[in-house]
Amino acid sequence: MCEIKAIKISGNVYWVGANDFDCRSFHGYSTPNGVTYNAYLITGKEPVVIDSVKAAFTDEMITRINSVIPVNTVKHIISNHSEFDHSGAIKQLYELSGAKVYASAAGVKALNAMYGDLNYTTLNSGETIDLAGIKLTAHATPMVHWPDNIVTVYEGEKRILFSNDALGQHYASSKKLDVEVDLNTVMDEAKKYYANIVMPYSAQAAKAAAAVKSINADIIAPSHGIIWTKHICDILSLYDSLTKNEKTDKAIIVYDSMWGNTAKLSRTVGAIFENKELTVKYCDLRCTDLSDIITELTDAKYLALGCPTFYGTITPHTAAFLSYLKALKPQNIEFMCFGSYGWGGGAIKEMTAALSSMGFNHIADTDDITVIY
Ligand code: FEO
Repeated sequence: MCEIKAIKISGNVYWVGANDFDCRSFHGYSTPNGVTYNAYLITGKEPVVIDSVKAAFTDEMITRINSVIPVNTVKHIISNHSEFDHSGAIKQLYELSGAKVYASAAGVKALNAMYGDLNYTTLNSGETIDLAGIKLTAHATPMVHWPDNIVTVYEGEKRILFSNDALGQHYASSKKLDVEVDLNTVMDEAKKYYANIVMPYSAQAAKAAAAVKSINADIIAPSHGIIWTKHICDILSLYDSLTKNEKTDKAIIVYDSMWGNTAKLSRTVGAIFENKELTVKYCDLRCTDLSDIITELTDAKYLALGCPTFYGTITPHTAAFLSYLKALKPQNIEFMCFGSYGWGGGAIKEMTAALSSMGFNHIADTDDITVIY
């Protein structure tokens, strides 16, 4: 019988993760290209597994490990991050192998709460461990994405950085290297991943990106998506731009509409920006995923938000957008609001207050951009 196998990355390092080709929502964020949970095996006298997979894919990971070495010979498990997509198979792997589990202090605390006592060893930032010749150094990258995150560097045939969530993308493929896939799609997914997972912690992400750069890795192997080999400069340059909140001449017109009037108004508002030679993108909240809108906002200078007044307040779609915006914290955005109304209005006042409270700069007198009914 033909079984799924590990994929050799370099020397004694193998990809033993799982492709979730059918996943279209990663905790609410749209993933049109699927999702990957990357785990890695380093073979040697005392084999090491770096991270694991979402629990539902445990058998797939174990089959891939077994294609290289018997899973019960694994001696060490490094957990760079305790979130369920990377720790879901750790308990079963521990039970099958009796391996030692290593994590940061915060990681040990989280894993213990999730899975009970698995014979943990704490890794400190900057610490190097020698596992029968496999030398690994941990570097703390807190809040990229949880407080427990670390990245691990392996000095093998090549210097490999296992970067966990940092520099990842939601992209499922039978091919694993950046040189084997469509780079434009992967870079777009990397930007979307940053916007929806990393952006609230942009200051910490900037520090992590600087630390990653100084490691000068030959290969960067994240725990989601494609592995960086030839295009390390491209992904680091993207993170440099995103963490600095660099903007392009782009305006995003986001709107909800009940009877089509606010939708009509959105084109008038868009024309204000078009006439200033800006690139304008229109996002109807009823048919555009919030994760795509937030991605557009990473490098947009302007946001125009439109909503009709709905019983004296904003519509539920607009409330959901504002809630997502508050959580993901894009920065350096100038905004204006628009909308149609009946009775006494109210939506514009509410949107303006909400966007101002997020630190955005209000640029327009919106009295000029409303219509009645
Ligand atoms: Fe991919 Fe924060 O987990």
